[in-house]
Amino acid sequence: MRGSIVLFGPPGAGKGTQAEIIVEMTGKPQISTGDMLRSAVSQGSALGLEAKEYMESGQLVPDQVIIGLIQDRLEDPDASNGVLFDGFPRTIHQAEALSEIAEVSAVIAIEVPDEEIVNRIVGRRMDPETGEIYHVSFKPPPPELISRLVQRKDDNEDTVRMRLAAYHDQTKPLGDWYSNMGILSTIDGTGSIEEVSKSVAKAVRSL
Ligand code: AP5
Repeated sequence: MRGSIVLFGPPGAGKGTQAEIIVEMTGKPQISTGDMLRSAVSQGSALGLEAKEYMESGQLVPDQVIIGLIQDRLEDPDASNGVLFDGFPRTIHQAEALSEIAEVSAVIAIEVPDEEIVNRIVGRRMDPETGEIYHVSFKPPPPELISRLVQRKDDNEDTVRMRLAAYHDQTKPLGDWYSNMGILSTIDGTGSIEEVSKSVAKAVRSL
């Protein structure tokens, strides 16, 4: 398939987890704005310093910062046959800017209710060496890795509630925007990781 795919959904819906199978099936590189911003924060770059406060308080980073970041990334050679966007676009303004610089062929939305989201986010742990995402109950890490796992600063209940509010207010309306364009596939994200992967794979095969 030509063009890019957008993986869409609330915080903690499983976008990062399910991105793996889409990358495997399509060969398109994953572009996660959250990962790019976290890397900038840990490097202490000007972008990181600007983004840190927004991220830690659960607010969206300003559109012009994100759009600039994506424009630069899309110039890399591996992006020439389309990419998998994870966590972008998140506002109508970002989606409009994207439509001017890249072709979006499909949007896969993962739907999960808010209360389930809080459980998922509070129990998430990440391996800083491999980038692998675990969950203390739903995807327990191997015991030998536990001591090196980290928890994101924004993965606490108060900040999750702020992130969910930002999602409902600024991001969710994008679902209707893409649905009106006829390119939205919606997946029930409430089953196990394996069950959701099967639905995602089915959606990708039908593109
Ligand atoms: P970002 O990093 O994009 O965070 P997010 O959208 O809040 O999404 P998450 O990474 O929290 O969740 P996910 O859907 O990837 O879930 P995961 O697979 O890890 O953004 C962080 C911040 O950066 C934003 O708040 C904002 O400030 C800024 N930002 C980023 N992009 C931006 C943009 N475009 N514009 C403006 N600001 C931007 O899964 C979560 C947990 O659940 C894991 O522990 C996993 O193991 C578990 N899990 C997954 N699937 C299942 C399942 N089916 N059953 C049980 N557990 C599951």
